[in-house]
Amino acid sequence: MTVVGIDAMEIWTGKLKLDLAETFAPAQGDDPGKYTKGLGLRASSFPDVYEDIVTMGANAAHRLMERKGLTPEDIGRIDVATESAFDNSKPVSTYIAGCLEQVYDENFHHANKGERKFACISGTQSLDDAYNWIRAGRNRGRAALVIATDTALYARDDPGEATQGAGAVAMLVDEDPNLVELSAEQGYGSADETDFLKPNQQFPSVDGKRSVNVYLARMREALEDFAAVAGDIHPGDYEMIPFHTPFPGMVRKAAALGYRHIVRGTDVGDLLAEEIGHQPMRSDFETDDEFHAAIKEYTDALTETERYQDWYANTIEPTLEISRDVGNWYTGSVHIARASGLKHARENGLDLDDARLLVASYGSGAQAEVHAETVVSGWEEEIGALDIDEQIRNRYDLSFAEYEQVHDVHNHETETDVEEFTAPENEFAFDGWGRMGERKYRYVE
Ligand code: CAA
Repeated sequence: MTVVGIDAMEIWTGKLKLDLAETFAPAQGDDPGKYTKGLGLRASSFPDVYEDIVTMGANAAHRLMERKGLTPEDIGRIDVATESAFDNSKPVSTYIAGCLEQVYDENFHHANKGERKFACISGTQSLDDAYNWIRAGRNRGRAALVIATDTALYARDDPGEATQGAGAVAMLVDEDPNLVELSAEQGYGSADETDFLKPNQQFPSVDGKRSVNVYLARMREALEDFAAVAGDIHPGDYEMIPFHTPFPGMVRKAAALGYRHIVRGTDVGDLLAEEIGHQPMRSDFETDDEFHAAIKEYTDALTETERYQDWYANTIEPTLEISRDVGNWYTGSVHIARASGLKHARENGLDLDDARLLVASYGSGAQAEVHAETVVSGWEEEIGALDIDEQIRNRYDLSFAEYEQVHDVHNHETETDVEEFTAPENEFAFDGWGRMGERKYRYVE
């Protein structure tokens, strides 16, 4: 069987930073602990005046192609996943291909281009599309470029404002990959939900508290569906579990739910039962409220156990490191979590050759998907090539007044005239509007 997976990836963060504890919390009159401890975020990334989903996606893709020595003729497919698109007809992938064609002699005229929409899960769905295209033998030896790019901005004073972020992840999907092999088995949890949506508007309508519960409910279903097709999961089966990470506090809840689920019927479940009792069963309670109170009490006890804390420290915590500094990147978020876990492993000398990852994606509206990946030899070199730490360090640190200006710059309904905070160099930049209202771009040396 053809082995297909992610051969390489690059990450591009927006060039600006909003420090949540130092800058955002005081302006909101909030305790910084709400953001740093409760949500688990230190800072958000923002796009500078000349950045948007196209520039960030094109810059990540360009760097990936340069590092892998690729030309447009090596690419048979460009799929862009985003929930920040500014055009209801022309896909973002055409804008990105147009950017890349400015710097290569060849073009992408024989590549299939598209745009995927299903909130944050569409990055993973684009990986699926690329995987299926190669496994079906339709790729003519060419690889697919999957780009997840978003400016995840909320309306000012929305509770989601603290979780904003902006950045892009470019992934090369190919045969015999150097990073991870994707499993054929997948589990889904999908339902028509109104937790987070953008009905013809730029900023989302969000029912924040409900969105947390919908994430957990769909994730539980996806885990059950995955176990039904791939077999029961044991907590020791997976070295790391990258989750979609709108903010690390969300993953703290999802991990506890996932752990409760995967220890059932295992030796670990038996040992935990001796320590904190059996997991509550719905049939033992008269009302849903009583059952939910018992689940909460059990989960609080579970997360205090050394067994759970060790598992969390090794399996989940490493996947959250990048997210804490950049916020939510919507479609790129779960792919940041994978990169973060692998980066942590490399920096700590962990041997992940042949290790298994369980990757848990989510998109509001709502759908969760769970699949397994196998880390392949070559991963250390690929992850070692990322310069995301340097990018994070080099961001311009916004004052609150500057943050307000930047938010307005990227608000489609406001007219602004704000100077850029950083200077573009060897990258694509927004270059004004064309005669049909299209956005134009240029490569800045
Ligand atoms: N010290 C420590 N912790 C504190 C604190 C303090 N001083 N003050 C508050 N906290 C804790 C709270 O207890 C809470 O933690 P728990 O949930 O574990 O109890 C946490 O900080 C957040 O506090 P609030 O619940 O009071 O925060 P909020 O109501 O203002 O906002 C939110 C939370 C509703 C999730 C909001 O951030 C939001 O709307 N976010 C956007 C929607 C979202 O990301 N939903 C996630 C699931 S949907 C999804 O994943 C798709 C996607 O990408 C958008």
